[in-house]
Amino acid sequence: MKNNKILVIHGPNLHLLGAREPDIYGKFTLEDVNEKLKNKAKEASVEIEIIQSNSESEIIDKITKASYDFLIINPAAYTHTSVAIRDALLSAQKPAIEVHISNIYKREEFRKKSLVSDVVQGVITGLGMHSYILALDAAIQFIKSQK
Ligand code: DQA
Repeated sequence: MKNNKILVIHGPNLHLLGAREPDIYGKFTLEDVNEKLKNKAKEASVEIEIIQSNSESEIIDKITKASYDFLIINPAAYTHTSVAIRDALLSAQKPAIEVHISNIYKREEFRKKSLVSDVVQGVITGLGMHSYILALDAAIQFIKSQK
């Protein structure tokens, strides 16, 4: 099927979910998130690829070289620092949603600035694991509306 593939990118340190600052990020693991996303995508008959990377260059390569129709990205700490990821998103010209588990506007000053928010379709922040589920819902709706 055309226009059918969603790529999910989890940025640095998100492999530590469950163990990492659970008061901020919750007790669920990355595997819990990915299982939910895969099940939901399967129900909707949409293809999904999920990667986690701690490397800015790997994330950029994926954004600019992989084949996909919609991107869901939690750039994690790179949200606040990476002009390179911002530029990659601009080059890729694919619809994308920026996701955060915590509410970045309720935290330290340096987290309140995202370098990617103004180059993506939308932002979902602060809803825990649900941020990803809502992003996937929106991506599925978008994909179905393109058919
Ligand atoms: C995060 C928020 C970022 O500020 C932080 O560096 C992360 C995770 C979130 O999902 O809440 O690693 O993107």
